[in-house]
Amino acid sequence: MHGRTLLVIDDNDAVRTALDVLLTLEGARVEQAATPREGLDRLARGGVDLVIQDMNFQREATSGREGIELFRSIRTAHPDMPVVLMTAWTSLETAVELVKAGAADYLAKPWDNARLVTTVRNLLQLRAALDQERERQCRLERSRDELAGRFDLRGIVYRSDALHAVVQTATQVARADVPVLITGPNGAGKEVIAEIIQANSAVRNGPFVKVNAGALPADLLESELFGAESGAYTGARAREGRFEAADGGTLFLDEIGNLPPTGQAKLLRVLQTGEFERLGSSQTRRVRVRIVSATNASLLEAIRQGRFREDLYYRLNVIELRVPPLAERRDDVLPLARHFLEPGYELTAEAERALLRHDWPGNVRELRNCIQRASLLAGSSKIGALDLGLASSATSSVAGESPASLREPDRAEIEGALARHEGVVAKAARDLGLTRQSLYRRMEKLGIAAGAADGG
Ligand SMILES: Nc1ncnc2c1ncn2[C@@H]1O[C@H](COP(=O)(O)OP(=O)(O)OP(=O)(O)O)[C@@H](O)[C@H]1O
Ligand SMILES: [Mg+2]
Repeated sequence: MHGRTLLVIDDNDAVRTALDVLLTLEGARVEQAATPREGLDRLARGGVDLVIQDMNFQREATSGREGIELFRSIRTAHPDMPVVLMTAWTSLETAVELVKAGAADYLAKPWDNARLVTTVRNLLQLRAALDQERERQCRLERSRDELAGRFDLRGIVYRSDALHAVVQTATQVARADVPVLITGPNGAGKEVIAEIIQANSAVRNGPFVKVNAGALPADLLESELFGAESGAYTGARAREGRFEAADGGTLFLDEIGNLPPTGQAKLLRVLQTGEFERLGSSQTRRVRVRIVSATNASLLEAIRQGRFREDLYYRLNVIELRVPPLAERRDDVLPLARHFLEPGYELTAEAERALLRHDWPGNVRELRNCIQRASLLAGSSKIGALDLGLASSATSSVAGESPASLREPDRAEIEGALARHEGVVAKAARDLGLTRQSLYRRMEKLGIAAGAADGG
């Protein structure tokens, strides 16, 4: 907290002095205010990094009313200001409620010095991290808006820097007539990127033909791509191939790693000369086709194993765009989830946490399916964590405990429950949906003394 300015707002001289000494020793610059008015005036002048405030400002008062008012005024004028509430047990519940409103924490008076210092340090760090994240978000949004103003982004949804970089490159290379190879795991959005390239290319008004090399057997794939003359093979009728269909436009070759050797040789030739022959024909045809290919397999590995031609690889990947797995860009999870939700549906906070925890081996496709299934199965328009059916250790139920215990309650919730039930652990446990033993375990882990709620 070195060099940070902390403002202590408390009517009690002794408290202010004690906090001043303690926090000055920690390297902070401490300023004091004896009344809410004085404190708010000081805040209005700017330069304060964190507030420590009392809840009662008159000798007899215990309601915390003034403290609540002060906290609300601070939140209104300075929404991001970290605030530590110093409270007696009598107004603990209020403090817990207020803390839920954002960057704030509370401590019971009399306070523990070490814990106060830790609390202040944590909040300052949180604030710095939030500031940084907000700045990044602003930069990204500006850059994305600017990009969306100049290019057709096909409605792609993201909030991560990682995908932004991919989209940016895609728009940059779209106009050039060079082959692009898009790599990335299943369902990560390779086809969406291919669509962005097509939509912003010089041939965007030409045909856009997609061929999945993984979906057809080798012999059919070749006639599919290059066409065939009647009698080229048993029962074959004359047909135009996809290369001809894509002439003057874009051909998207999906799962290119599955192309058999003869197909690879032919593809290489088209890329080099634009020329090919239909199966069973000696007539050479010429096309102008922009090639965008995609693979979720490692082509380098396939080259090492002799299954993929190295010269073809270098032809295809003049530009390589790598779409990262969803697990490497968790910023995109919630925006995508909301995008896939049916209108009128929403996710509970718990559901959002479960989505953020999940690893998404099936990437965006898995997320889309998960949200669609949950919308169908949810009993109401609010989709909860259980509706998502994500079988992770964090969301699967623990034998013998009720669903409320699926997420471990935090310190504020436990202390709030203890305060509500005057420190009676059994009652607090029932309130939290935990067994008494597991509440004890959790309290022990968090360092909450069992007797604390009785006395204060
Ligand atoms: N960023 C995104 N914004 C909106 N929709 C997306 C995004 N990424 C993927 N999708 C959607 O998720 C689904 C899967 O994406 P896509 O088909 O592009 O993945 P892929 O990488 O081509 O998968 P595969 O390897 O299985 O072919 C599609 O319905 C697509 O529209
Ligand atoms: Mg695909």
